Amino acid sequence: MVHRVSPPVRVFADLDGASAALARHVADRARAAVRDRGRFSIVLSGGRTPLPLFRRLARGGGSGIPWRATDVFFADERCVPPDHPDSNFRQAWEALLSRVPIDRRRVHRLRGELRPISVAAARYARLVGRARVGGPSAPRFDLVMLGIGPDGHTASLFPGSPAVEERRRSVVAVRRSGLAPFVARLTLTPPALASARDVCFLVAGDDKSSVLAAILSAGPDGDPALPASRIRPPHPPTWYLDRAAAAELSPRRSASA
Ligand code: 6PG
Repeated sequence: MVHRVSPPVRVFADLDGASAALARHVADRARAAVRDRGRFSIVLSGGRTPLPLFRRLARGGGSGIPWRATDVFFADERCVPPDHPDSNFRQAWEALLSRVPIDRRRVHRLRGELRPISVAAARYARLVGRARVGGPSAPRFDLVMLGIGPDGHTASLFPGSPAVEERRRSVVAVRRSGLAPFVARLTLTPPALASARDVCFLVAGDDKSSVLAAILSAGPDGDPALPASRIRPPHPPTWYLDRAAAAELSPRRSASA
């Protein structure tokens, strides 16, 4: 049963239910984007939470999504080779992208293996700058999907990192964080992640219930200590949650659908 709460928060019994709903939403947005603008651009999150979603999107060879008119980008990447176990690209490739009829040239990988990493960031920023469809004021992406960590980070935007306050560049290198052992990363910045027609967070697990409640109650400008709250697209993000992650949301946010 879906508890449809005051939009844009949707609570499901488990991650599989949330993933199924988000997969349907992605397919709907993809078909509409290709119909209206001839292409669909999506930014994929890293982390383990999206795996059920990736597998659902790959079902039936990815039927339902116009993959041949789709461009895939990544919200962030560890500075490792693409075949490294920690690579977000590798995870998405194995669970989804290798299983659908997408043009390999339209899978835009963050090249975490490049050195110096500032060059890798600048290179991706140029690519992201060309991503727009629809004129200079159009959003860069059709859909951005993100997760959050228990510390409120999203992508590789960690609490206290200068990247959280970046307003000019679209991609930056992140050389340290509170995570140990920390591998340097590349990340899209808040303005780049917010330059989207649609931003969807997929969050599951009771280890995120407290930080999620804090993020959803952050003020209109978000909280710098909670980077995920600083992603402010033109239309508020939609949150796809399992019941465990939503456990600390105020009762007014949960109502039967
Ligand atoms: C990454 C992600 C990161 C992730 C959160 C949640 O590269 O790790 O971009 O922001 O979404 O850390 O990770 P889990 O889904 O594994 O809990």
